[in-house]
Amino acid sequence: MAEIKKIAVVAGDGIGPEVVAEAIKVMRKTEELFGLQFEFEHGLFGGIAIDERGTPLPQDTLDMCKGSDAVLLGAVGGPKWDNNPKELRPETGLLGIRKALGLFSNIRPAVVFDCLKDASTLKPEVLEGTDLIVIRELTGGIYFGEKFRREGAHGQEAIDTCVYNVAEIERIVRQGFEVAQKRSKRLASVDKANVLETSRLWRETVNRIAPEYPDVELEHVLVDNCAMQLLRRPSSFDVIVTENMFGDILSDEAAMLTGSIGMLSSASLGEGSFGLYEPVHGSAPDIAGQGIANPIATILSVALMYRLTFGYEEAATAIETAVKNVLDAGHRTGDIAVDKSKAIGTTAMGDLIVAAIKR
Ligand code: NAI
Ligand code: MG
Repeated sequence: MAEIKKIAVVAGDGIGPEVVAEAIKVMRKTEELFGLQFEFEHGLFGGIAIDERGTPLPQDTLDMCKGSDAVLLGAVGGPKWDNNPKELRPETGLLGIRKALGLFSNIRPAVVFDCLKDASTLKPEVLEGTDLIVIRELTGGIYFGEKFRREGAHGQEAIDTCVYNVAEIERIVRQGFEVAQKRSKRLASVDKANVLETSRLWRETVNRIAPEYPDVELEHVLVDNCAMQLLRRPSSFDVIVTENMFGDILSDEAAMLTGSIGMLSSASLGEGSFGLYEPVHGSAPDIAGQGIANPIATILSVALMYRLTFGYEEAATAIETAVKNVLDAGHRTGDIAVDKSKAIGTTAMGDLIVAAIKR
């Protein structure tokens, strides 16, 4: 028996609880098969926490997360809270939890499953062999810089500032090199060094530490060119590391290569092995409560958790293989189904994957 791992579960709003329930079923199955042991604790988070506790991130939820080995998060948000002031918005909880847990990188794999090439808008031959990771810096840049309005000579002006220091750049870039070392040893560092001062500091920092990773082939790519190349030859990328806003946009673009946001997992990491794992998608209010959400993104996030936080490589691969086998057998939720009339629901998909997990 492996030692007991504490999992903090913050399912959130909309389809969050629906997809998280399937991920927990998968974890229970791997406990049996691989001798793993998990203790689940649930906390209020997001819109539901605003309703019940008056804040999107209650202190006891945060303490529970801090005391855990890993966090499993669903999604937050919905129209009900859209017009709330900033401190009473679900996304404020999302930013807050990452900051409070010291998570500074967001890792998003974009893998094209062969049998789902028909779900993408791109040609199958362009997608062939796509298996990349986008590593996005999470705590700095223009999203966190000073923002304000002022009266200018031509009426109201709005200012957003983009700030990065060397330490922030260095820790995320090192993670990029380290992840690249574990994969095909190719790293694309994405910036806009021809225009932005923060990007010039980024590139200087990358070049300064690159000699410490002689086995990694480094390429600097300007963000606009990267956006084009992702559509033209996505398989040429392996690991992409970039700052916060570029990473936000590029990771969503990479997501669309795979056809559906319902397939995409993610990890947020800090120093050490602790991590927060969640599907890339939001709370999908348009389909919430109908039992039709695709649980695969959350289930694949569990595989990431096993690999990156716990080193349960065998169980991680077993989950990924189960997902692939269920898809290969033709089972689809509505978001990835060509023939929508044959689509199955959230729990049916979860049950099929649980049944397909083999040691
Ligand atoms: P969304 O990802 O929730 O939905 C976009 C579209 O994809 C919708 O049509 C939805 O039905 C579909 N979709 C998403 N996940 C799916 C799944 N697992 N299976 C099948 N279809 C799926 O993004 P949207 O609509 O922009 O945002 C909705 C709410 O979610 C907003 O309140 C937003 O702030 C929040 N949000 C939360 C995130 C998080 O918790 N990490 C991330 C993105 C948005
Ligand atoms: Mg985004």
